[in-house]
Amino acid sequence: MDNVIQLDNVTKIYKSGDIEVTALRNVNLRIKRGGFVAIQGPSGSGKTTLLNIIGCIDTATRGKVLLDGQDVSKLKDRELTSLRLHKLGFIFQQFYLIPTLNAAENVELPLKEAKMGKRPRTDRVMELMEIVQLGDRYKHYPNQLSGGEQQRVAIARALANEPDILLADEPTGEIDSATSTRIIKLMRNLNTSQNLTVIIVTHDPTVAQMTDRVISIRDGRIAR
Ligand SMILES: Nc1ncnc2c1ncn2[C@@H]1O[C@H](COP(=O)(O)OP(=O)(O)O)[C@@H](O)[C@H]1O
Ligand SMILES: [Mg+2]
Repeated sequence: MDNVIQLDNVTKIYKSGDIEVTALRNVNLRIKRGGFVAIQGPSGSGKTTLLNIIGCIDTATRGKVLLDGQDVSKLKDRELTSLRLHKLGFIFQQFYLIPTLNAAENVELPLKEAKMGKRPRTDRVMELMEIVQLGDRYKHYPNQLSGGEQQRVAIARALANEPDILLADEPTGEIDSATSTRIIKLMRNLNTSQNLTVIIVTHDPTVAQMTDRVISIRDGRIAR
């Protein structure tokens, strides 16, 4: 299966009371395994909605979402949870680290959820901290880390269970441009070394330039 992600005629309508907002309109999209892709578009154009639907955090109102050729609407809740835990890694603009856990403990969470034993878990956490070059900062709490360091902890956490697809929603929105370049390079390394499919939502043209493909979205439609 060459296309790790396939969306066929995906429409998303949010309803609250009498008000309907169409966030995505007939989106067709194919992303190849090992792709390194940016999604660009103005605020409110549907980027987060698109990422959440690909990441099975949200569901399409109409249309089909296939991951590895598997129609995700056919999956049971338990299978979806497992898919989110093992196949997908999410990174958010605001990092969403747990402030009362140190860096290592934040990264350990998805491993605990996957029921990995204590010994291999500790090894894996340290391996991940090395990958994101924070081997010396693992005991730091989020408020003792810079924005770029916190984002690297969030990347380590997203990679914990060796996902096939990394989804990042404006991951460099809150950090300076030198740090943001380092973070995108880190994702690129993982993309090349592990054939990780990476999708980055970004406003930043410098970030978009570092990818292989830019998908533009306007008013819920893919422009190019
Ligand atoms: N949970 C929601 N309920 C209602 N409307 C929403 C919800 N999430 C997003 N929207 C609307 O859908 C549109 C697309 O939003 P979003 O995907 O967040 O855009 P972007 O990430 O490009 O800024 C916007 O008009 C937004 O207000
Ligand atoms: Mg958004």
